[in-house]
Order: sequence, then structure tokens, then C-alpha cells
Amino acid sequence: MPDLPDADLPYTVLSCAMSLDGYLDDRTKRRLVLSNAQDLDRVDAVRASCDAILVGAVTVRTDNPRLVVRGEARRAQRVAEGRPASPHKVTVTRHSSLDPTAAFFASGDAEKLVYCASASAGRLRRELGEVATVVDAGSAPSMTTVSADLAARGVRRLLVEGGQAVHTQFLTGGLADELQVVIAPFFVGDSRAPRVVGDGDFPWNRDRRARLADVCRLGDVVLLRYALSDRFDTETAGDGWT
Ligand SMILES: NC(=O)c1ccc[n+]([C@@H]2O[C@H](COP(=O)([O-])OP(=O)(O)OC[C@H]3O[C@@H](n4cnc5c(N)ncnc54)[C@H](OP(=O)(O)O)[C@@H]3O)[C@@H](O)[C@H]2O)c1
Repeated sequence: MPDLPDADLPYTVLSCAMSLDGYLDDRTKRRLVLSNAQDLDRVDAVRASCDAILVGAVTVRTDNPRLVVRGEARRAQRVAEGRPASPHKVTVTRHSSLDPTAAFFASGDAEKLVYCASASAGRLRRELGEVATVVDAGSAPSMTTVSADLAARGVRRLLVEGGQAVHTQFLTGGLADELQVVIAPFFVGDSRAPRVVGDGDFPWNRDRRARLADVCRLGDVVLLRYALSDRFDTETAGDGWT
């Protein structure tokens, strides 16, 4: 079983929204809206509290997210504190291409980092040019390597927003300090759709239950907040949630 997160790694919050039957998405081309306005505003506040936001390359390609802080007051507050208006953006890829015009790269002034397998580094640097910093993360990148490199770049709080492959690796790697899951009030009902996590050896299982730290109703969705490490209590003291 993996150890709990190393104190030198960023405090890592995993965030996702799922259907009542545990799916992150459906199989249609149309974007599946699981969240609602109240929850999106909450996620915006969580983003504003972080130094970097990470998503997998499939999410960059399929959802085309902007991953910026939207609230003007939150952006101004960050700037007043000497931070960029939005957190750094981070993605991971092994083999595939990334479109330099994707919203991930095109929106916001924050630094964009692409961690990739060594074999793809040269090609990605040519494809992405100036829009991102491509980091060679070794022949088989791990989320531990990515987290350690982010820590070395000054990232203290990392928000991981999916998708399934990335969440699975952070959880099975024992790298998550906190999990925030929003449950939408409907079913997807298609087992070919991506579930919230894939198969794996999770540190939280029938013999080791995670600690439910908070439950919050936000309109028609519910937020479940799980403490996954001892760092949860010190990092969240006074943040008004618990
Ligand atoms: N409901 C939600 O909250 C939520 C949030 C985010 C995403 N989603 C959904 O989740 C789905 C995507 O999930 P997914 O599991 O298919 O993809 P993903 O986690 O977004 O991205 C997986 C990709 O990341 C790269 N990757 C993963 N592990 C890596 C590693 N160890 N080293 C290097 N690269 C690595 C690979 O990219 P390459 O293929 O480029 O090699 C891999 O194909 C989409 O349907 C999206 O809409 C839902």
C-alpha cells in the first residue's frame, strides 16, 4: 500500500463531479453538465486557493477547459497577494498530440506545463512552441515525479480536476490529501462511459475507510469532502468549510 503524501509534495486536492451511477461523462459528443452554478462558483474559489491545476491530456482534448479563475474579486485578490490571476495549468501526456490553440493553452497568462514521456518531448516542443513549457518526465512518467517537480517549482497547493486516469493514479499512488466529489442528480446508465476512477489498488478500501470531513448541499447537487491525509486538518483549519 502506498504511503500517505510526502510532506514535501504539494497539498493535493482531487475534485470531480459524477452521476448517481458514478460516471464522469457520457458517450455523447455533447459536454455533460454534472455541476450547477452554485457548485461552479465553489470550484472557482477552490481554484483561486491553489497554485496549479492539473488535468489529463484526454480532458484537454475532449472538454477543452479554460481552467482559469473566473471571479474578478478572486483574481484581484490573487494579484494583490503577488500571485498570477489564475493558477499555473498542468497536463500530462505519454504519446498523443496536443493542440496549441486549445483553451488550456490559449486562455489566461499563467504558466502552462506539459509533463510528457521522454520519447514525446522533442515532438511536443515543436508542436507547442512558445505556448507551454514541455517537461521530460522520464520514460514512464508517474504522478509522484510530476508532483515532486511541481513542488520544486514552488507549487504548494495542487488541484487535480480529472479525468479518470489521472484521478486513479493520484489515489492509488497515495498522493491525494483531499477528495471533493460532487454528485449530480441523474444517471448516465452506459457502462462504456468513464467511471470516476478505473481499476486499482486504492489505499482506501474495505479495511481502511476514508474520513468523511464534510457534506454540503448545493442546490440540486451534493458535495462530499473526504480527508485523505493528516495534512487535511492543518491545511483546512479556518477555511470555513468544516
Ligand atoms: N466530471 C468531471 O468532474 C470530469 C473532470 C475531468 C474530466 N472528465 C471526463 O473524464 C474523461 C477523461 O478521462 P480519461 O481517464 O479518459 O483521461 P484523462 O485522465 O483526462 O487523461 C488521460 C491521458 O493523460 C495522459 N496520462 C495519463 N497518465 C499519464 C502518465 N502517467 N504519464 C503521462 N501521461 C499520462 C495520457 O495522455 P495521452 O493520451 O496524450 O498520452 C492519457 O491518455 C472525459 O470524458 C472528461 O469529460 C470529467
